Amino acid sequence: MRISDIVDIEKFPVDQIDSGRGFEFAEECKRRYQETGLCMLPGFVVEKALDVLRRESEGYIGDAYFCDNTHNAYLTDDADADNDEVSRRQEKTFVGSVPYDKIPSDTALNTLYQWDPLKDFIGYVLGKESFHRFADPFGACSVNVFVDGGVHGWHFDESEFTVTLMLQAPEQGGEFEYVPQIRGLKDEKKIIGNVLDGQREGVVTLPFTPGTLLIFGGRQTLHRVTRIKGSRPRLVPVLCFAEEAGKQNSDSVRKLFWGRENPNDELKEAS
Ligand SMILES: [Fe+2]
Repeated sequence: MRISDIVDIEKFPVDQIDSGRGFEFAEECKRRYQETGLCMLPGFVVEKALDVLRRESEGYIGDAYFCDNTHNAYLTDDADADNDEVSRRQEKTFVGSVPYDKIPSDTALNTLYQWDPLKDFIGYVLGKESFHRFADPFGACSVNVFVDGGVHGWHFDESEFTVTLMLQAPEQGGEFEYVPQIRGLKDEKKIIGNVLDGQREGVVTLPFTPGTLLIFGGRQTLHRVTRIKGSRPRLVPVLCFAEEAGKQNSDSVRKLFWGRENPNDELKEAS
């Protein structure tokens, strides 16, 4: 598939950030990201390509590794956690991920991920001088799969930003909820405690519109995915980038999310 059959370049001129309309568009996206911690582009991927991407992703679901675990909001080990009530509280996460080495190079998803103008546009929005595709054999570009019962508990991401594509919504649940840019506030722990208690003040729900590209600053913003119900999986490709060339995940992150440390390893049992 050609990139012009995947991305609505007319509406989103991400390949022209150096001139005229493309520059204005990129500036507007950058401003939105700085002000709100996210930039959402509904309709970025055209309807026809969504069908292709969905079919491709359904073909890889059998290759997803499922992580079923609990964690605190900071994703820190108990031993490293601040000794306070909020940092000790555990949230549940049950999510699958199809690793990059199971996604063929000639797929629509890989065509999108390998498209340099997209990388350069995202780097511009994030204000990065240097910007590269991630070099991790599993985590460079993966597909998050939430099946019936799937859930991602409240947390801040380890990485500064995440780029995702909303591909398929489940029948029920699977809402992306967030509390914008609360990290570092004086009453951060109090806010987190209230949210973990189920209070809804400050909680925003992002609509799941298939075809939306989302650039999200997940280190500053508390977020979760609510429990999924029904047989249709929630599918969200994750496109990873880094300021440094050649950047990869640690072995422990690889083992946690994909059950392997290296591409040739046998799958390890999920914990
Ligand atoms: Fe996250």
